[in-house]
Amino acid sequence: MAVYLDHAATTPMLGESIAAYTSALGIVGNPSSIHSQGQNAKRLLEEAREAVAASLGCDPIEVVFTSGGTESINLAIKGLYWARNSPGNRRPRILVPLGEHHATVDTVEWLERYEGAILEWLPLDSLGRVSVGAVADAFAAHDDIALVSLLMANNEVGTLQPVEQVVAIASAHGVPVHADAVSSYHRLPIDFAASGLAALSVSAHKIGGPLGIGALVLARSTTVVPLIHGGGQQRDVRSGTQDAPAAIAFGVAAQHPPVSLAPLRDRIIDGVRAAVPDAVLRGDPIDRLDNNAHFTFPGCEGDSLLFLLDVSGVSVSTGSACRAGIPEVSHVLRAMGVSDADARGALRMTLGHSSTEADVDAFLAALPAAYARARRAGFADRDVNE
Ligand SMILES: Cc1ncc(COP(=O)(O)O)c(C=O)c1O
Repeated sequence: MAVYLDHAATTPMLGESIAAYTSALGIVGNPSSIHSQGQNAKRLLEEAREAVAASLGCDPIEVVFTSGGTESINLAIKGLYWARNSPGNRRPRILVPLGEHHATVDTVEWLERYEGAILEWLPLDSLGRVSVGAVADAFAAHDDIALVSLLMANNEVGTLQPVEQVVAIASAHGVPVHADAVSSYHRLPIDFAASGLAALSVSAHKIGGPLGIGALVLARSTTVVPLIHGGGQQRDVRSGTQDAPAAIAFGVAAQHPPVSLAPLRDRIIDGVRAAVPDAVLRGDPIDRLDNNAHFTFPGCEGDSLLFLLDVSGVSVSTGSACRAGIPEVSHVLRAMGVSDADARGALRMTLGHSSTEADVDAFLAALPAAYARARRAGFADRDVNE
């Protein structure tokens, strides 16, 4: 039986969410319509918004449904940037840590290229944590900061980020902070109201809800310029007929209480260390996501290991992007000071609601042979027969 250890990429839909989704697909009526069928759809949609809001500690009116994490992040970063930049009032600077998800990296780089943004890249330490000192220094040096955007926890190496401290510094200067909580949702407690954040992005398919829906939590006091214009739905922030069935299924997943995956994660970490003593755990060994185990394996290509494990029926990830079939060295590991040679042996195992001890044990059983073969193959740009 196939073993799935790539829940950070996407996790299977929960049975309750599938059931709610399929029955909601029969709903008749646009939630914006005034007739009773429209109002019925609206009621169900708003109940879903309440469920999502309850899971994030925010007010339902602050929940803007989007198509997923990537759209939420684009809306937060571009929307805040545009709202805080007008011809007579320029605040072009964006503070952003190295090692963010590409949804953030590519968005801020787009703003740099087309909208004149100035990017202030904040360094990571060797465990993958953003430097709070660098945030404080940037605020001491500049008074033209539009926003700060950072991960709540790194999606590759699992390290929790000092969001509270960053918000404390930024708030003292009246600058909004956006948190990418896509990989943290249901893995860390999130209390938006208490956080002082201006905006927070989440995605349903990471918590057992459907693909194609997410949310941007936007504090009532925060203004963003919308990406999408149209019928003025959702406070005029995100126009378009709302997807009530997807929202309902999202709401069901949001209410599903997450269980701690730390024991299974530690079983992976201990097992890998026992099987391959040279493998190096990356990210913070303690302050890390409870579903993330990330290692670099010396002397081999993470992709080879991934393919060999796949042949054994175990799905894992290298954690980083693969462009046009060519593996890329992780920008997160680079930012942590890991050499390219070491970073190439990266492998990320992530757990979810359906994970079992048997999954972990099957992975650990397949690992030694896969590693031995991957080492024999060496690096892709060397002669594999050497
Ligand atoms: C940290 C993080 N941010 C953003 C995203 C993008 O979310 P989505 O797949 O919902 O667009 C992901 C997905 O992998 C993620 O892990």
